[in-house]
Amino acid sequence: MFPTTLWEYPSQHYDSWVDEQGRVVKSKGRAPEARGALAMQGDKEYAGATPSWVIWQCLMRYTRVGDTVLDPMCGSGTTLDVCADLERRGVGFDLAPSREDIRQADARHVPMPDASADFVFIDPPYSTHVEYSDDPRCIGKLDSGGEDGGKAYYGAMERVIGEIDRVLKNRRYMALYVSDSFRKRKGKPGGAFMPIGFELFARLSQRLKPVDIVCVVRGNRKLERGNWRKAAEEGNFFLRGFNYLLIMKKEAADEPRGAARS
Ligand SMILES: C[S@@+](CC[C@H](N)C(=O)[O-])C[C@H]1O[C@@H](n2cnc3c(N)ncnc32)[C@H](O)[C@@H]1O
Repeated sequence: MFPTTLWEYPSQHYDSWVDEQGRVVKSKGRAPEARGALAMQGDKEYAGATPSWVIWQCLMRYTRVGDTVLDPMCGSGTTLDVCADLERRGVGFDLAPSREDIRQADARHVPMPDASADFVFIDPPYSTHVEYSDDPRCIGKLDSGGEDGGKAYYGAMERVIGEIDRVLKNRRYMALYVSDSFRKRKGKPGGAFMPIGFELFARLSQRLKPVDIVCVVRGNRKLERGNWRKAAEEGNFFLRGFNYLLIMKKEAADEPRGAARS
């Protein structure tokens, strides 16, 4: 496990192995030929897939075998695959499910009872640069730097955070993976900076207790492109070099013993 608040992962996905039915096989101590096929967590072709290392680190720290782990914006299913690998019970929803084990739901109305998840991982859309689906409820269609000052985007995310708080068990953890954004003005210098990490941190901490902020170095090869670097230099802006991992804990006041429920 990474011991500091600066994480640099070696690849988008770590190696794991599956049998012919696609079930994760424990490779420890097995000869390479008995390991099964090399498997992927989620889908690396999926635009906006989360690095599985990040989810693995979270689950190793904050969950135990058999725990229920929710991802309400499950995308290509990376969280579910890491859960299978670590013997956690993954529950995945998305507006546009990409595979059968992901159920359709809006993250503002998670179909789970109160206090039923031991951990929540979420990697929400930020800004409008990826077209996830045609569904008009997709939060990726709401502009965090729009003319409304990001009101619709942050309003939607406040409702998602409310749902996370509702379904999370008391004294358990959640992690939100997100990046800030910068929109360059076409053909002109300068642009608009959208401090999405700070904005979401402020909203999360209205409900949950901040535990830590991890800076995850982005392993995006596009950042190495000469034309991107040149544009950043000439336009006097920065390319996004890291994502935030915002870690929170639910600490609801305990109900007094014998308190009547209404
Ligand atoms: C950054 S991707 C998640 C990537 C995912 N963790 C993975 O590794 O593949 C964001 C996801 O949020 C989903 N999404 C957007 N708005 C949503 C909403 N209102 N409710 C549920 N899912 C939503 C999109 O369909 C997209 O799959």
